[in-house]
Amino acid sequence: MAIKNLVLLDHPLVKSYITKIRDKNTSYFEFRQYVDKLSMLLAYEAGKELTLVPRKIKTPLSNFAGSQIKGEIVLMPILRAGLGLMNGFAQIFPEARISHLGVYRNEVTLQPIRYYFKFPRLKDRKNSIVYILDPMLATGGSMCSAIDEAKKTGIGKIVVACLVAAPEGVKEVSKYHKDIKILTCALDRKLNSVGYIVPGLGDAGDRLFGTL
Ligand code: PRP
Ligand code: URA
Repeated sequence: MAIKNLVLLDHPLVKSYITKIRDKNTSYFEFRQYVDKLSMLLAYEAGKELTLVPRKIKTPLSNFAGSQIKGEIVLMPILRAGLGLMNGFAQIFPEARISHLGVYRNEVTLQPIRYYFKFPRLKDRKNSIVYILDPMLATGGSMCSAIDEAKKTGIGKIVVACLVAAPEGVKEVSKYHKDIKILTCALDRKLNSVGYIVPGLGDAGDRLFGTL
């Protein structure tokens, strides 16, 4: 599937950890641990989307013309399952602000229902970036709803980060938001008749939080 704005991570650790979390015999605490590791690998890749500006400093020995990240970084986990990616991203981007977005999909209609949103006050929104975090991109309804909210804030750049994407979800996001890059650890075969990703990993929220 060639979509211009899709980045599929290609790393041995990503492939082996994704296999761990797909395994139905992986317990919820192991699931959380591997999601945490995957989110750090994903965050490292996501860091390539940052813009740098020059920063002059003095080392103990001399002047140095270095760099710093332009603007601010906002992490926007989609509740609930997006919380699983938050700590890994926060480790890689320690100064990031966190914006929680509550969206769940109606289990019958698969339509996204938004129920909570809190976004930080930023000094320079135009030069800042938001990473929208959700392990699963299925129909794409929840992600499109999140992107709509993020765009309303006036933030300069939006990047989607997920663990497992379905082709249907990638197409949906690309159709309505051609300008948005999607980073994913895996691109799966399809959605089943009830909107679950196949082969997928099941319900990410339930597996993360042990609510099966
Ligand atoms: C899951 C997942 C995404 C959404 C993806 O959340 O974490 O947010 O489904 O599906 P979509 O692409 O078809 O919209 P869910 O609605 O199950 O809520 P939860 O995280 O609270 O369990
Ligand atoms: N949400 C999940 O948690 N898993 C899927 O496969 C699809 C949506």
